Amino acid sequence: MNKVNAEDKPVVTSTLSEQTDYPACIDPWIYVGIGWNKFNACCRAPRLDFGVIKGFHVDTDFRAEVFNHKSYRYLRKMLADGKMPDVCVGCTKHSKNGADQKAIMESWKAKALKKIANAEHRLRVEENIAAAERSMLKKEIIVDHMPFQAAVTCGSQCNLQCKFCYNCHNDYYPEPEDILNIVDKLHETLFDVDITGGEALITKAGRSLLKRFAGGSYNFCVNLWTNAQWTDFDLLAPVNISAVKISADGATKETYEKIRIGGDFDELLTNIKKYKELKKENPFIELGLIYTITSDNYMEIPAACELFGQYATVKFGFVLRDDNDSQSITARPDLYEPLIAKINEALELTTAKLTKSNLVALRGVIKSKMQTATLATNHFPLKVAFKLFARKNYRFFKRLYKRIAKAFL
Ligand SMILES: C[S@@+](CC[C@H](N)C(=O)[O-])C[C@H]1O[C@@H](n2cnc3c(N)ncnc32)[C@H](O)[C@@H]1O
Ligand code: SF4
Ligand code: SF4
Repeated sequence: MNKVNAEDKPVVTSTLSEQTDYPACIDPWIYVGIGWNKFNACCRAPRLDFGVIKGFHVDTDFRAEVFNHKSYRYLRKMLADGKMPDVCVGCTKHSKNGADQKAIMESWKAKALKKIANAEHRLRVEENIAAAERSMLKKEIIVDHMPFQAAVTCGSQCNLQCKFCYNCHNDYYPEPEDILNIVDKLHETLFDVDITGGEALITKAGRSLLKRFAGGSYNFCVNLWTNAQWTDFDLLAPVNISAVKISADGATKETYEKIRIGGDFDELLTNIKKYKELKKENPFIELGLIYTITSDNYMEIPAACELFGQYATVKFGFVLRDDNDSQSITARPDLYEPLIAKINEALELTTAKLTKSNLVALRGVIKSKMQTATLATNHFPLKVAFKLFARKNYRFFKRLYKRIAKAFL
């Protein structure tokens, strides 16, 4: 078991460049997603092909075949050049300011120093993080280091049927051994592993993985994503848990249960309190509450800051991927103004720095969408002119076609 020892002194292994020329997003240099039978370079890029995990076996060269796969190289090239790949449109992690990405790297380094108990492992992780940082600063497209963050989707099985969930309609029941084969290739330089689903605590792979992670063969930290409708502290207690991210998408029973179908708001609050107790035993555990903003719950953003802010850091996000869904607030220009008003109200209420910067970033995404809409409206006369021009040409071509047809018939 690798519980963090608060007495451990941080070890600084390398001096990194002060340069601020970071890519627009660092994920493709640091992260690997494992799930839905595929690899991935971030949680938003499943539309790109990164190779399948079923074909992965002990002899596979992970660095060559996965981490330098052409989809990784494509994302790195675009982001290093400050460009916006289409999968990144609307993602709040994409930044024009290298300083944001530098700050993220700094926080990874600080966390790794603080949270990894095993000194040898910590040294390897730090060296790997340093190599990743050098690589992104040199704008390398083909890299020599390994990811230091992994996220495992343990299966689609779930005790809820949330309205906006991208997992609900998928079937995925991975074999734990397929995932462990990959983890075995990565673990020596991994800082942490996210365990998610479906509801990881009830999936076969999630439970097997957590049991194996508790067994003492791995030294990385584990972050659990859960709906907190049910917990299993016997399973979790021996695992080196670094963070628990609990979904909480409504500040009232009515709204929460409308979105989280099958969920019970009172159970959520009870279990949040239980996780808070767990944090008392191990202060290194970060407790985070995740609120996905939809057209059903945006009005409760300020109330969520007040209610959930008492227990943990609240982080808001937009519905991903499904812009045709009317719950997806980024696809609802009619709600942009009321949403911004609610974000402003929440910004007045909350003092939590992370929540504030998160809300400011989300407001930025909405404001830029509003600007684009205004630009399009400003160009309305141009659009009309173009349509008239196209129609005129259409008539011209139709006449020409008729003449040609006449000549030949
Ligand atoms: C897929 S869930 C898995 C973990 C757990 N079942 C839960 O609900 O927390 C991980 C996170 O993704 C969020 N999520 C699900 N569908 C989403 C979507 N379409 N857009 C954005 N986030 C989504 C959930 O709210 C949750 O915070
Ligand atoms: S900006 Fe967002 S979508 Fe693009 S690579 Fe980074 S995390 Fe993925
Ligand atoms: S609890 Fe999580 S995985 Fe289950 S349906 Fe809801 S968001 Fe999806």
